[in-house]
Amino acid sequence: MKKIKIGICLSLFLNLAFGQQPSVKTIDQKVDSLLSIMTIKEKIGQMNQYNGFWNVTGPTPVEGDAANKYDHLKSGLVGSMLNVRGVEEVLKVQKIAVEETRLGIPLIIGFDVIHGYKTLSPIPLAEAASWDLEAIRKSSEIAATEAAASGINWTFAPMVDISRDARWGRVMEGSGEDPYLGGKIAYARVKGFQGDDLTSPNTIAATAKHFAGYGFAEAGRDYNTVDVGTSTLYNIIFPPFQEAIKADVKTFMNSFNELNGIPATGNAFLQREVLKGDWNYKGFMVSDWGSMIEMIDHGYAKDGKHAAELALNAGSDMDMESYVYVKYIEELVAEGKLDIAKVDDAVKRILRVKFELGLFDDPYKYCDLGREKKVIGQKAHQEGVLDMAKKSIVLLKNENELLPLKKKGQKIALIGPLAADKNSPLGSWRIAGDDNTAISVLEGMQEYKKNKLTYQEGVKLSIGENDFVKEFKVNTTDRTGITEAVALAKKSDVVVMVIGEYSYQTGEARSRTSLDIPGLQEELLKEVYKVNKNVVLVLMNGRPLAITWEQENIPTIVEAWHLGTQSGNAIAQVLYGDYNPSGKLPMTFPKNVGQVPIYYNHKNTGRPTNPGDDVVFWSHYSDVSNEPLYPFGHGLSYSKFEYSNIKLSANAITENEKIRVSFTLKNTSNIEGKEVAQLYIKDLFASVTRPVRELKDFKMVTLKPNESKEVSFDITKEKLQFYTANNKWEVEPGNFKVFVGGSSKTSLEADFSVK
Ligand code: NOJ
Repeated sequence: MKKIKIGICLSLFLNLAFGQQPSVKTIDQKVDSLLSIMTIKEKIGQMNQYNGFWNVTGPTPVEGDAANKYDHLKSGLVGSMLNVRGVEEVLKVQKIAVEETRLGIPLIIGFDVIHGYKTLSPIPLAEAASWDLEAIRKSSEIAATEAAASGINWTFAPMVDISRDARWGRVMEGSGEDPYLGGKIAYARVKGFQGDDLTSPNTIAATAKHFAGYGFAEAGRDYNTVDVGTSTLYNIIFPPFQEAIKADVKTFMNSFNELNGIPATGNAFLQREVLKGDWNYKGFMVSDWGSMIEMIDHGYAKDGKHAAELALNAGSDMDMESYVYVKYIEELVAEGKLDIAKVDDAVKRILRVKFELGLFDDPYKYCDLGREKKVIGQKAHQEGVLDMAKKSIVLLKNENELLPLKKKGQKIALIGPLAADKNSPLGSWRIAGDDNTAISVLEGMQEYKKNKLTYQEGVKLSIGENDFVKEFKVNTTDRTGITEAVALAKKSDVVVMVIGEYSYQTGEARSRTSLDIPGLQEELLKEVYKVNKNVVLVLMNGRPLAITWEQENIPTIVEAWHLGTQSGNAIAQVLYGDYNPSGKLPMTFPKNVGQVPIYYNHKNTGRPTNPGDDVVFWSHYSDVSNEPLYPFGHGLSYSKFEYSNIKLSANAITENEKIRVSFTLKNTSNIEGKEVAQLYIKDLFASVTRPVRELKDFKMVTLKPNESKEVSFDITKEKLQFYTANNKWEVEPGNFKVFVGGSSKTSLEADFSVK
C-alpha cells in the first residue's frame, strides 16, 4: 500500500516534471523542470520551515498552531521541518510530504547537531583548542553519521562566528577569536558533516551560521546590536564563511542581530550583494528562528507582511518559524511588491540541495530503524569522541611538575561540584543527548586503581534545578560541605579540584557580566589551598574565565572545557600522563572582565606603550595591565619545547613570490610530545591599519625526547593580502615581520619586505 502511494506521487512528479524531457541530466535541469510545474503555493511551501514536536499522527493536534502546521504539511505548504528526530518521527512527517502532497517533494529535516548527536563530542570551542583539523573533521563525521541514522539530513552547524567577547555565551559554539583558525575549522567541520558524497545515507548538509556579525554583539549580550566597520567585517568576520563556501557548504543561516542598522535577515548587502553576488553562492539561506518577524521589534519592518517582503528581497530563502512567507508571499507577489523571480530563485536553491542530498531518489534513505539502532552510540564513535576530548584539553600551567600524577601510592582528594557531575561535561547544545550520560572525572579517575581516591563535593554549584529552560541559580550561601572537603585535602598527597561553569551557563542567551568561577567554588578552592598546596585545578567551562588568583597561586591548571560523553576518561588520561596534552587556547583569557573585549590580533593605536615612567597618556588601564592572563595560542605539554634559529629564504619579494621561513623546534624533555607551531605576520604600515600580528599558519609537530626538527612555513600572497582601502583583497608593498613560536606572544621574529 505504502509503495503504491509513493509510486503515485513520484510518478506524477516524474511525469509532470520530466515527461517532456527524457534526457534530463543535471540537477539544475531537474530543478527547472520541477519548478515549471509548481503552483505559487507549492513554491512558497518549499520556503517554509516548521518546528516539530507536535502530534502528526492523530487528527487532533495537541498544541497551539500545530493544527495549521499539520494541514500545511498535507497541502504541500511545508518544505522543511526542524526538531523532528528519530526514524519513527521523521518517517511520520516525511511520509505525509512524499505520499500525500500533490508533488511528493520530500522534506529537508534540520536539527542543531552542534557537537555530536547522541554521542557527544567536546563543545566546539574546546575542539578548536585542539587545532587538530583532521580530528575535528572526524568528530563532525561521527555527528553526521549518528544524526543521519536518526532521520536527519541537515545540521545547523558549524557556527563560524568569530567572537572576542567571553561574556557572550555562544563563544562555546564557535572556534574562538581568530579568522584564520576559525576558517580552517569551518572548512574541516563542513567536510566532516557533508563528506565527499552528499548522497550517502551517512552524510548531511551543513550550515554556515550566523551571517553575519552575530559574535560582535555589544557588551557580549546575546542578540544585541552589532556595529562594525568594513575592515573588521571583511578581514575578521567574513573569512570563515568564505572557507565554508570553499568546502561547498550547502546552506547558510542569517542572524538575529542587526548589522550597522539593518537586521541581518533583511540585509540585502550581506545576502544578495556579498553572499549571492560577490561570492556567487549557490546554496540557500535559512532565517534564524523567528528572525523575520523580529524585524518588527528591531524597528525595521512595520508588520509581518512587510517583514516577509524585506526578508525575501534581501535574499532570505527559507523562513524558520516566523510564518510570514507562508502567510504573505502570495499576496505580495500579486500586489507587485515581490518579484516572482525572487521566489523562483529561492525555491530553486532549496530544491537543488534536496536533489544533491538524493532525497528525490530515496526520500526515506535516512529512515532505517535497524541502522539507527546499530549506529548510534557505537564503540567507534565513543573512541572518536574520547580522542577528540583528549586533544581538546589545554594545560595552562604546570609548576612543580605536579602533573602527570603518580600512578600508585598516592592519596588523592577529588573535590568540587563538577568532579562527579555527569551532566555538565555534556555541554550546552546537546538536544539529542541524554542528560547525565557523561563519564565523570570521578569515574575516569577510578580506572586508576593503585591510588587511594576519595571524593568530596565541597560546595554545590547551584541551588534548585539545573534545568535548561529554567533560570540557573548559583549557590552563594550553602557552605556546609567546605569543612569536610578541607579535612580531606589536609590528609591527601594531591588535591584534584574540578570546578567551573554548569553546562547551561554558556550557550545561546547565556551571556554573563562576570567571568569569575561562579558561586562559592573559588572560596572552596582557597580554603583547600590553605591546607594543601599540591592542587591540580581542572576547569570545566564554555568560555574564557578570569582566573587571575588561580594563576597566581595554584601550581597546576588544566582547561578541560565541556568535553562531552567521554569527558572523565579524557581528563583522567591526561592527569595520569597516558595522554600528553597539546591543546592551545583559541581565545584569549583576560585578567578580569574589564579587559574584555581582549584579543591578540588587536591594533597598535597611536599610543601603544608608556614612553616613560611618569607619563600617563598612553592606551592603558590605570589598575590592570594590558596583558591578558593567557594569550591566544597558549598551551603547555608534559614535554618542553624550544624554538630557535629562525631563517628566511629571502628578505624581499614581489607579491607573487614566496618566502620560506624555517626554524628549529626542539623537545628538550625526556617525554615524547606534540607541539602546535604557529606562524604570525605583521604588516607594519598599510592603507588600513593592520593588527599587531595575525596567525597565518600552524603545524602540528611530534617530537621524541630530545629530538629537534627543522620546521618551515611558506609565506605566500594569500598570507599577506587583506581587504584594503580599495575595497579589494590585495597585497600592499611594504615592510613585514614574521614570528614563529608556541603562542601569539612569541618573540622569535624576522623581517622582510614586499617590493
Ligand atoms: C536559534 C539559534 O540562533 C540557531 O543557531 C539555531 O540553529 C536555531 N535557533 C534553531 O534551533
